Amino acid sequence: MAQPLSRRSFLQGSALATAGATVFGAASVMMESAEAGQSTGLPVIGPGMITMTLEVNGERRAVQVEPRMTLAEALRGPLALTGTKIACNRGACSACTVWLDGVTVCSCMMLALDVGTRRVTTIEGLAKNGELHPVQAAFIEHDALQCGFCTPGMVMSCTALLERMPHPTTADVEAAISGHLCRCGTYPHVIAATLAAAKTRQA
Ligand code: FES
Ligand code: FES
Repeated sequence: MAQPLSRRSFLQGSALATAGATVFGAASVMMESAEAGQSTGLPVIGPGMITMTLEVNGERRAVQVEPRMTLAEALRGPLALTGTKIACNRGACSACTVWLDGVTVCSCMMLALDVGTRRVTTIEGLAKNGELHPVQAAFIEHDALQCGFCTPGMVMSCTALLERMPHPTTADVEAAISGHLCRCGTYPHVIAATLAAAKTRQA
């Protein structure tokens, strides 16, 4: 004889049915998208590793990435350029700032695959012939770092500022670093360092 359906067994059964529908639903979406790629003739990338070429700090580098890998992950992982930091990993702190064709971007917010032919510059690319960039030297001189986690991103933004505006004001530097979060509170030193570097470059 069938057992009477208790409230608990009804809820358990419903949960299992929902979970099953979700799993099978997701599988069918994946199959549909793979089929859609085949039927439209569009290239299907991944889900496995793919090999691509990135121009980083003036060098063309072949790198293996998963399609879901961000530029920040590709830099710090397969490219072993760990100067670029990942802090929030969601576009909120600017610790991961690098340049794409000289323009600052949050590298945690873009896929490595989307870089295309654009030139990537990281903190490792600023020093030339063993000499620190004037902004890097000024950060040290002005004690503009404590834990250093935000520092590479700050340096990339301050250097980009001097590239486009050789004579910045304090307000210009404040605007340039406005998206950067520094838990150690180094902002006044960062501003002083950037203004000093601007003077050094003019000398
Ligand atoms: S780590 Fe990219 S914005 Fe925070
Ligand atoms: S120096 Fe520590 S977060 Fe900025």
